[in-house]
Amino acid sequence: MGLKNKDLISIHDLSVGEVATILDVSKKIKRKQKAGEPHEYLKGKTLAMIFSKASTRTRVSFETGFHQLGGHPIYMSEATSQIGRGEPVKDTARVLSRFVDGIMIRTFSHEAVKELAKYASVPVINGLTDLLHPCQALTDIFTVLEYKEVLKGRKLVYVGDGNNMAHSLMFACAKVGMNMVCASPKGYQPNPQILQQAQEDAKATGATITVEEDMFDAAKGADVLYTDVWASMGEEAEREVRMKALHDYQINAELLATARPDAMVLHCLPAHRGEEITEEVIEGKHSAVFDEAENRLHVQKAIMALLMSDEVL
Ligand code: CP
Ligand code: NVA
Repeated sequence: MGLKNKDLISIHDLSVGEVATILDVSKKIKRKQKAGEPHEYLKGKTLAMIFSKASTRTRVSFETGFHQLGGHPIYMSEATSQIGRGEPVKDTARVLSRFVDGIMIRTFSHEAVKELAKYASVPVINGLTDLLHPCQALTDIFTVLEYKEVLKGRKLVYVGDGNNMAHSLMFACAKVGMNMVCASPKGYQPNPQILQQAQEDAKATGATITVEEDMFDAAKGADVLYTDVWASMGEEAEREVRMKALHDYQINAELLATARPDAMVLHCLPAHRGEEITEEVIEGKHSAVFDEAENRLHVQKAIMALLMSDEVL
């Protein structure tokens, strides 16, 4: 298989076919789990999970998922490992590679994850950096596929901070032929280099990836409305400034009325009700946020199986 022994650091690094394979295997693995059919593709294997930031979904979905695949996951926090005491990433990478079959990492620096992958001889999976959150974005696209059946030509409108989530969604949409508009105020728009790379990727599928300030204009004809917190992990000190700057960038009933009548609403969670999304919308009939959260389990199981299993899936 094309993905065996590779890393999953950014969706940009994946081919269009590899993204399609992940979606296809996610569907198969989800079906098997629901049917109670065995799918222990990683029996006897071990996964190290390094967390330098908080997590509910990522930790529990990776840990449960790896266990369901027959393997043994090991949770490592920065505080209770030598990572927090300054052991170099390149040493951690080489040591863990002698023990485990894969490494999942959630941390601040994207460069640190690239360094880890460079020195590790086992697959490295990005569980979120300040720059990207690829497993979440692949899950989001899988969720759209479940609801909408066809991805090509669909329109996803991301509202709010042009952050790690916006970046990974731009790459994901580009790879599956979905049109994406990132509606963000000046100063909080996505990284121009990521935007440019996503636009390059989009040439292969005919998708359009754009940025604009006016979210009502952006939301017209949207199949998917997406948002994320105004202040991400690590940005706590900027919270007050961000609350003011991003104040209008909220998914609420008015914005939802601008989208298609059958539009779905996604949020990677955790959500701040009354900030980037209203209680009414997140709890309303357009919201698919808990199906989206569940799908982290299925999609990450597919990713881990594809990167680490000897079986052809
Ligand atoms: N969406 C997401 O990654 O959630 P956690 O921060 O809880 O892992
Ligand atoms: N942008 C958010 C996503 C959390 C899953 C953060 O980085 O905190």
